[in-house]
Amino acid sequence: MKCRVCGQPASINLRSYKTALCDSDFIAFFEKRVATTIKKYRLIAEGDVPIVAVSGGKDSLSLWHLMNKLGIPCDGIYIDLGIEGYSDKSLDKIKKVAETLKRKVYVFPIGSVFDRGIDGLAKAIRRVPCSACGMIKRYMMNRICMDKGYNVLVTGHNLDDEASALFGNILYWKKEYLWKKDIALEAKEGHLSRKVKPFFLCSEREAAAYAIMSGIDYVYEECPFSMGAKSLTYKGMLNKLEEKSPGTKLMFLKGYLRALKERTKNEIDLQEETRETKYCVNCGYPSYTEKCTFCWTLEKFGLHCNIIFDEYC
Ligand code: AMP
Ligand code: FES
Ligand code: ZN
Repeated sequence: MKCRVCGQPASINLRSYKTALCDSDFIAFFEKRVATTIKKYRLIAEGDVPIVAVSGGKDSLSLWHLMNKLGIPCDGIYIDLGIEGYSDKSLDKIKKVAETLKRKVYVFPIGSVFDRGIDGLAKAIRRVPCSACGMIKRYMMNRICMDKGYNVLVTGHNLDDEASALFGNILYWKKEYLWKKDIALEAKEGHLSRKVKPFFLCSEREAAAYAIMSGIDYVYEECPFSMGAKSLTYKGMLNKLEEKSPGTKLMFLKGYLRALKERTKNEIDLQEETRETKYCVNCGYPSYTEKCTFCWTLEKFGLHCNIIFDEYC
């Protein structure tokens, strides 16, 4: 198989694009596609101060590297979940990329703040680890944006993440979530940062290939608490479909984005939009109730949280 651009031996076959490319032409192709996505969907505007949420995995580290390469300077934020043998390894890789990029990374160390890792914390607040983790990540990522002067939170969610989540929402008809996914979620005046996903239309395989070909050292293992998650089963099923009909995942998500755009707003959305935003009486951050979920949960279970971020450059 030869590279479609230069005729040298190809290193990756992209069946959904009916092309095969060598390392350097794949890197150029991938970077161009992400740059086009950022422009087409207006993910970053002039004057924005974005920050990338980095987990140490292939998607977020590739994205961090790529954004800076495209001339969009970005710092990073890492929520250190305190998972033995996993979180430290992730932090090491993140620090290395931060050094190469000469960018700052803020780290929220759950283990030292709460005196226990995410599994212990989840037990204390009677949730499963992934649910406790999601709640803390949402709160802390937004908080760092607001406190440190960033206005766009950039995440590495990829085509496979989004397609499997959409598939799950449709399978169980979770109407309340169905139309909530988007490549960009708008900011809410002065208190919720804008959230964007430049890899929305890039597959996991492409992100991994980009990381390897660009020499980015990332953590291969998945979070130990994600084992057996339904999303992994959906990803496997969608990949089987993709094998039979290359381009299916991309079509699924592009079709969704079009439908979302065309969709006339229904009453439920209108009700939600007109819901008055309140501010948590404890931390001052947005909440639909008197106290935000984060503060309410900590108080209910007698926990205390000093908001400290370690900083590395
Ligand atoms: P996941 O939900 O693990 O598939 O992650 C989706 C995206 O969320 C990643 O690409 C990162 O941008 C971000 N993310 C996940 N885990 C963390 C973390 N511990 N710290 C910072 N960002 C994270
Ligand atoms: Fe959140 Fe594993 S518990 S990523
Ligand atoms: Zn609060």
